Amino acid sequence: MNSPESQNTFKPKQALAPSPTLYDELVGNGMEELAKATIAEIAAIPRDAIVHDNGCGTGAASAAVVAAVADPTAPLKITGTDINDDALDIYRKRASEERWPASAQHVDAARLTFDNETFTHSINNALLFVLPNDGIDAVKEVHRTLKPGGVALFNTWVFTPSLGPVQIASKATRPPGTPELRQGLDKWSRAEFLRTVLEQGGFLKDNVDIVERDVYITTPSALKRLATIVWSFIGGTSSVGWLKEDEESWERAVGIVMEELKKTPGFQETHDGRCVLKFVVNIVTAKK
Ligand SMILES: C[S@@+](CC[C@H](N)C(=O)[O-])C[C@H]1O[C@@H](n2cnc3c(N)ncnc32)[C@H](O)[C@@H]1O
Repeated sequence: MNSPESQNTFKPKQALAPSPTLYDELVGNGMEELAKATIAEIAAIPRDAIVHDNGCGTGAASAAVVAAVADPTAPLKITGTDINDDALDIYRKRASEERWPASAQHVDAARLTFDNETFTHSINNALLFVLPNDGIDAVKEVHRTLKPGGVALFNTWVFTPSLGPVQIASKATRPPGTPELRQGLDKWSRAEFLRTVLEQGGFLKDNVDIVERDVYITTPSALKRLATIVWSFIGGTSSVGWLKEDEESWERAVGIVMEELKKTPGFQETHDGRCVLKFVVNIVTAKK
């Protein structure tokens, strides 16, 4: 992917095109493990909960909610919203195949179309850090649409094992002075920054709890495929995007990403050749 702030449209021929399916391959069961770890921070979700899965993507958090309630007769209601129609299509297909009590709508998190005090729970799985204005507009909307006493859950990465390897590959294969990849995400690892976002979004300081947790994810891909997807997704996200030289140095960069991924804390290859990666996350529970 090229950086959104870069005008450069060049992309190496080897770079895999981003799509919701490729994203799912990159994150493996990660989004679902993240959602499970996040939901585990609150008391059991009641059978009659009215849940908003905000920025639902292909439905990882909704799947975790359905699994947590584990009662097909429950009057549970889930509304998934996102701005990516491809992801929403996949969400709807899963919801229908897996019989979730869920529907999905195209809605921008910064301009929710729901009435005040609609939901008992709002799950924002891996969402805040992809939004403009540090997600504050979206947090305001979450606060507005939660019922009094309702609970909102958010999470952010403290440690992402793929980021260091791509930064090392970028430094090793690109000319000196090339801008660093993914600057600006570091702030999301700080609980205090996260707290200010929640407070600016309308949640009271005493109603916001933040804890740090380890989340292990298993990717469906073998190491080389994983490194190729990681480099394709993140390699072009500096302020200058992809460089012409990246086509020539593609294999070397992917090789470096492979070697560096193996060195990350908690990394394992399973007996059937998949990869296990350890992430560290901040989990926020905010009550209205
Ligand atoms: C990292 S993904 C997480 C997806 C999903 N929550 C999950 O657990 O798999 C971020 C999601 O936020 C969505 N998104 C980005 N900007 C958005 C916006 N302004 N409003 C709603 N969704 C948005 C993206 O389309 C993407 O599906």
